[in-house]
Amino acid sequence: MKNRIKDILQEIENLAAQNNEELEALRIKYLSKKGSVSELFNDFRNVANEEKREIGQLLNDLKNKAQDKINNLKESFSSQNDAVQKLDLTRSADPLKIGTRHPLSLTKNEIIDIFSRIGFTIAEGPEIEDDWHVFGALNFPPEHPARDMQDTFFIEQNPDILLRTHTSSVQSRIMANQKPPIRMLFPGRVYRNEAISYRAHCFFHQVEGLYIDKNVSFADLKQALMYFAKEMFGEHTQIRLRPSYFPFTEPSAEMDISCNICGGKGCPFCKHTGWVEILGCGMVDPNVLENCGIDSKVYSGYAFGMGVERITNLKYQVKDLRLFSENDVRFLKQFESAI
Ligand code: PHE
Repeated sequence: MKNRIKDILQEIENLAAQNNEELEALRIKYLSKKGSVSELFNDFRNVANEEKREIGQLLNDLKNKAQDKINNLKESFSSQNDAVQKLDLTRSADPLKIGTRHPLSLTKNEIIDIFSRIGFTIAEGPEIEDDWHVFGALNFPPEHPARDMQDTFFIEQNPDILLRTHTSSVQSRIMANQKPPIRMLFPGRVYRNEAISYRAHCFFHQVEGLYIDKNVSFADLKQALMYFAKEMFGEHTQIRLRPSYFPFTEPSAEMDISCNICGGKGCPFCKHTGWVEILGCGMVDPNVLENCGIDSKVYSGYAFGMGVERITNLKYQVKDLRLFSENDVRFLKQFESAI
C-alpha cells in the first residue's frame, strides 16, 4: 500500500496538460469515484489496524496534493487565456531596434575620456565662423594659402564669414574670453573644399587640445601626447615628433605613432615605414597669446589637433573614409559591440 501511494504521488507531481480536456481526463483518472486515488481509499478497509493511522495520513496527503496539482494546472490555463485577451494587436510585430553609436562618436568619446583623466574639460565653438577666429588671431598672414578660396568654404559673398577649416578657431574664442590656466579640449566638425575620395572629404572631425599656464613647456606637451598614444593604441605604442610648421605654434611638430597594425615592423598600411602620422601640435605662438589678450611674458602653452577619422581608421582599420558619412547600416552595425 505504501509503495502504491508513493508511486501515485510521483505520477501526480509530474502531471502536465495542454488544455482543459486533457486536464479533465487527468481529474477522472485520479480523483473520480473510480480514479486511482479513490480506489486506494476503498482498499483502506483492508489495512491492518496498527497501520491505519499512518496510512490514513499518507492517503489524505495524497488526495490533497492531487487536488492542488489539478487546481494549479487549471489556473495556469486561465492566466494564459487572460494574456491572450490582453494582447495589443496594434503593436508592431518586431521589437524596435535601437541604434548603435557611430564609430566617429566612439573615437571622439574615447579621446575625451583619456584627456579628461588628466584634467581637460570640453568646449565647443560654432562651425560658421569669422575670419579673425579661424585665421587672423591664429597668426595667418593675410596672403596665407590656407585662406584661399580653394581650401575654405565661404558663406555667400561675405569673405569674412566662412566654414571653419579647423577646430583651432575654438582656441581663439576661448583664449579671448577666459583667463589662464586653460586646459581644454575642443571636439567638432570642420570643412575644407577638397575633392571627395577614399582619403579626403569636404568635411571631417577634429579634436583640439589647449593648455595655457605659467611655465608650460614642450616636455609637458610630449608627456601628454605620449600618455594619450599609449591609452588609445596600447602601452607598447611609441611616438615620434617631426618638426613641422603651423602659423599659430612655434615650434611646431607632427606626431607619428608606431604602426598599430604591424607593431612598427613595416606593412602596406604604414607604407613600410613602421610609423603613421596622427596629429599636429606645438607651443602656442606668443603672437597668438597677445592677439587674444594673454600676456606672453607670463604665460605659455601648448596646442594639438587631431583628425577623428584618421584615428578611427587606425583603430578599426577602415580604409575608405566615405563610409563614415554614407550611413550604411551594414557598416555601422559592425560597431555594435564597441559601445
Ligand atoms: N589646426 C591644425 C590642422 O588642422 C592642427 C593643429 C592644431 C596644429 C593645434 C597645431 C596645434 O591641421
